[in-house]
Amino acid sequence: MNRDPAARPDPAVPNSLNPDPANPDSASPDSGRRDGVSADPATARPAMAVHAMAVRATAAHATAAPATVHPAVAGADTSPPLPQPPGTVYLVGAGPGDPELLTLKAHRLLRCCDALVYDSLVPQAFLDLVPEHCERHFVGKRRGHHSVPQPSTNAVLVELAGRLGTIVRLKGGDPFLFGRGGEEAAHLVARGIPVQVVPGVTAGIAAPAYAGIPVTHRKAGSSVTFVTGHEEIDKGRPGVDWRGLARCSDGLVIYMGLHNLSRIVAELLAGGLAAATPAAVIQQGTVRGQRALVATLGDLAARVEAEGFASPSIVVIGEVVNQRVPLCAPEPADVTMPIPF
Ligand SMILES: C[S@@+](CC[C@H](N)C(=O)[O-])C[C@H]1O[C@@H](n2cnc3c(N)ncnc32)[C@H](O)[C@@H]1O
Repeated sequence: MNRDPAARPDPAVPNSLNPDPANPDSASPDSGRRDGVSADPATARPAMAVHAMAVRATAAHATAAPATVHPAVAGADTSPPLPQPPGTVYLVGAGPGDPELLTLKAHRLLRCCDALVYDSLVPQAFLDLVPEHCERHFVGKRRGHHSVPQPSTNAVLVELAGRLGTIVRLKGGDPFLFGRGGEEAAHLVARGIPVQVVPGVTAGIAAPAYAGIPVTHRKAGSSVTFVTGHEEIDKGRPGVDWRGLARCSDGLVIYMGLHNLSRIVAELLAGGLAAATPAAVIQQGTVRGQRALVATLGDLAARVEAEGFASPSIVVIGEVVNQRVPLCAPEPADVTMPIPF
């Protein structure tokens, strides 16, 4: 059995993102490995309910090699069945929202996966791609609630890999760029579970592009930094040296920057950036509701507040904003994200 469905040619490479309901082969070739799991979403286990089971599955995987031949098989007709090798978890980048920015590889995996684990910044159109038998597990942040803790998400992935063939862990943008994909990959590999990353188009490039802003330009310097504005809240990260960045990076692309924007701007000014430095914010880039503002560093925070900009937004600071070519910006796609933010 070829365990990498992404490696197979897909006869149904799409003109449309909708799976073909007339083609039962769009279901996973590994779906036969499911152990009586209900395809009925009404009876499917919620993500959190599998946590205890996931701990047991973790112990099993810690000792199980991705076996080809089990030692107990040697000639004994009465041997118990061979343990199934664990499934493969694909850490898949969903891109920034516009379905046409989904990669072909991501599309192919979504069309055949046995389980989909996803969070907030993923359009509904992608959830509709999966086959009917696919289990869906939401592990993102719901309005008014905290995100599912990372250890619980890890446990869900381990549990699913213990009983299903192809698990897609779908993340907004690129899984390895402020997406905790590296943590999930390391957790799974440490338990002997095969993992593959499928890069995606990151919001930090796509959202500015959909406003006509190139994140680098020969006339606007030689460097760009992708940086999180969220580091104070996430204690697991070292703090950002904003004053240092003001001196050493020509352009800044800031993810999750709105919450701390006043402080970030104050630090950049203290680090030597001029108040007249051009800046932009793009909210809900590439999808319905996209909007953008162009300002200067000096008035950026006040404009963002006055005009009610909200998450998810990308902030761009630097001379590249002056290289904006609005006429090259694509129309945002007519889709929304499934969970309001
Ligand atoms: C946890 S980070 C995930 C980034 C993602 N891994 C990527 O590569 O784009 C979430 C942040 O990405 C940015 N973001 C994601 N999608 C966006 C979009 N469509 N428009 C603007 N910003 C977006 C926002 O700053 C949001 O708070």
